[in-house]
Amino acid sequence: MATEPLLRALSRMRGHLLDPESLVRAVASGAQRGGRVPEVAGRPVRRVELRYVDLKAGRHLQVTSYDDTQAHTTNVAAGEAAKVAVDDLLDQPFGSWHVDTTTQTHQVRATKKLEAVTHTQDRAAPVEAERGHDKAKQRLLPEDDPVLRALGISDAQGRIKPTRQAKYRQVEEFLRLLDAAIGDALAKGQLRTPTEDDPLRVVDLGCGNAYLTFAAHRYLSAVRGLPVRVTGVDVKQQSADHNTAVAATLGIDADFVVGTIGDAVLPQPPDVVLVLHACDTATDDALARAVAWESALVLAAPCCHHDIAAQLRKAPTPAPYAALTRHGILRERFADTLTDGLRAAILRLVGYRVDVVEFVGSEHTPRNTLLRATRTGKAVSGGNLRREYDDLVATWGVHPHLDELLGLSRD
Ligand SMILES: C[S@@+](CC[C@H](N)C(=O)[O-])C[C@H]1O[C@@H](n2cnc3c(N)ncnc32)[C@H](O)[C@@H]1O
Repeated sequence: MATEPLLRALSRMRGHLLDPESLVRAVASGAQRGGRVPEVAGRPVRRVELRYVDLKAGRHLQVTSYDDTQAHTTNVAAGEAAKVAVDDLLDQPFGSWHVDTTTQTHQVRATKKLEAVTHTQDRAAPVEAERGHDKAKQRLLPEDDPVLRALGISDAQGRIKPTRQAKYRQVEEFLRLLDAAIGDALAKGQLRTPTEDDPLRVVDLGCGNAYLTFAAHRYLSAVRGLPVRVTGVDVKQQSADHNTAVAATLGIDADFVVGTIGDAVLPQPPDVVLVLHACDTATDDALARAVAWESALVLAAPCCHHDIAAQLRKAPTPAPYAALTRHGILRERFADTLTDGLRAAILRLVGYRVDVVEFVGSEHTPRNTLLRATRTGKAVSGGNLRREYDDLVATWGVHPHLDELLGLSRD
């Protein structure tokens, strides 16, 4: 990490952004502290991604900007038009830039005093920039990636098997979320920069057959160039045996621990906790472990939500909400929403910034909510957040498992 004037760091990034040969991808995100929200074409944006694509009309800079609800993409010709687009973006008060070139990765984080905290890392080996503009070519893990073959998602020729298309889409959507979350957390200094001697420690709790564990390892190490070590935890011995064999085939250094999410012993606390579709309160067990480990980043996609649903069935419905719980299907859906809303609220109270986003499209699975929590370390003991939480549990007469595990409401 180094500190330098922000303008100088951005002018160095400008050189990379305007190099249509070496730029792989760049992401500008967040707002500078105390500053206004960055805008693109007069619209406030949270994040902008840049890459060069080859169109019939030649190489273009593709600019995809994300607001709270959707993405807008424009393509501008490389050269003068790209210079204008890049300069407009560099003028916006983004909190951080992450710039990947074929040989290096650069991070620039703006401080309150308009200085830049920067970090540059050489890649272990140069990567090729993907210039295709159709969606199929914008895949994070290509169809013929060895991990996808070893997991049986691709066939021997490196094509996704027709029956595994949905799994591949899930892997891709997960990697997109992981990439954005890790990129933002690294750029904002919320996640430590890993080194070869002290790699990023990622644990996948309830990993099952470890599709997402292996995909995360492959993407973070081979594509993002981050030193990373993954550990999978599952109660099933059979999962550990299978996953250890796959890791050996792939030459990946990974551990698979047989144990429960609540009790598994890890040699060191993980930086990143994944818990994807672990049943019912196993998600709460995982969130409580992440809090105790003080893990910097947590991605949790809950599965079934029986616990709060059962509590709702027993407690009298407060007025005037009977219409929400009178019908079984609505009560179940409401229980899902209440459970995840309470989880997000609890994580905020114990010092995490939390977003709740869509995981995979709801046409693939109804279990498509993802809680993305980044540790701030600033726990809240009173105030509006605490009152809001206390009122919510008191109104519905529920006792969230995560609250019990963390002892939040203990007198
Ligand atoms: C639905 S699978 C999901 C697997 C994987 N995370 C995925 O998303 O593809 C749930 C896995 O969590 C494991 N599991 C559930 N509860 C657990 C617990 N309390 N401790 C450890 N593993 C658990 C199950 O054995 C199963 O393999």
